Amino acid sequence: MRSSSTRATSLRAGLAGLASISVLAVATATAAGPAVATPADHATSEVAAPDINVDDVVAHLEELQSIADANGGNRNTGEPGYQASVDYVQTKLDAAGYETRIQEFETAQGTSYNLIADLPGGDEASTVMLGGHLDSVGAGPGINDNGTGSAALIEIAETYAAQNPDGAQHVRFAFWGAEELGLLGSTHYVESLSSDEASQISAYANFDMLGSPNPGYFVYDDDPSATDLRDDLTELYTAAGTESAYVDVDGRSDHAAFMQAGIPTAGTFSGAEELKTKAEAEMWGGEAGAAYDPCYHSACDTMDNLDTEALDVNADVIAAALWQWTAGSTKSQ
Ligand code: TRP
Ligand code: CA
Ligand code: ZN
Repeated sequence: MRSSSTRATSLRAGLAGLASISVLAVATATAAGPAVATPADHATSEVAAPDINVDDVVAHLEELQSIADANGGNRNTGEPGYQASVDYVQTKLDAAGYETRIQEFETAQGTSYNLIADLPGGDEASTVMLGGHLDSVGAGPGINDNGTGSAALIEIAETYAAQNPDGAQHVRFAFWGAEELGLLGSTHYVESLSSDEASQISAYANFDMLGSPNPGYFVYDDDPSATDLRDDLTELYTAAGTESAYVDVDGRSDHAAFMQAGIPTAGTFSGAEELKTKAEAEMWGGEAGAAYDPCYHSACDTMDNLDTEALDVNADVIAAALWQWTAGSTKSQ
């Protein structure tokens, strides 16, 4: 708890310092005279984050829908559709160059699994983590909740690795099990960390429901130690041409355990069972007085229960945040 604001501050300081650090690194290498990358290869740390193609995110979602269809209609803890979802993500991230591991834990519905994926490289003492839950409720396939967060993270992880960003920070993705049973996977992970390991996580950003059919564009506003991360997300929505609003998440997703452990947290969210207000409908379009997601936790949370524009904006904003938070400069492309 005590050191959380220190870590938030040092992440910020690290980001601010990156431009000068990379200049120094080039200068040192040149002075030493070895065959190093020319300065042009490292010309800037201000490389724009990629525009994530939402069709590629939707393709991952279609795989998750097929997995549910082939396994009794859901991807719930203890059911084969959850295991198949873990296998799908692990295969993708292994192929992309991540070191993946499965963390097992027990629940009242049987064994569940977290998938943790580290991209080799970067400063592990300053790890940026992005995550979301991979399980669905038993009632349906969980396409918006939380296929969208999972699919966006898969695509962003693949893109990050493929572009080989020369980021200062180490990057770790997490796909949590048993969120729907009470945030069990993320809680288990945080409890499994030594205090040293916990202190190496500079930030944890959570993505749970990104393509609600009557969407809001919400930024988590419950972590006083991470207002800088929150403001980065707000600014990135603005840069993408979308106004955002704060949501008091009220401990309802997987960043809660991180926040309690003093790790700065953030996230975006497109809305669940609550009703869109008139002012929000004026700002964002859609239907006032209707739920952001009328199929929340229901059988109808399928591929028809999606706003792909909201999913696209969120995927682009998350990618921009990751590139910014890791101060990645993309190598010669
Ligand atoms: N999976 C979350 C839940 O069932 C969905 C949710 C509701 C949520 N409100 C939220 C996620 C606010 C993030 C922020 O509780
Ligand atoms: Ca896009
Ligand atoms: Zn849910």
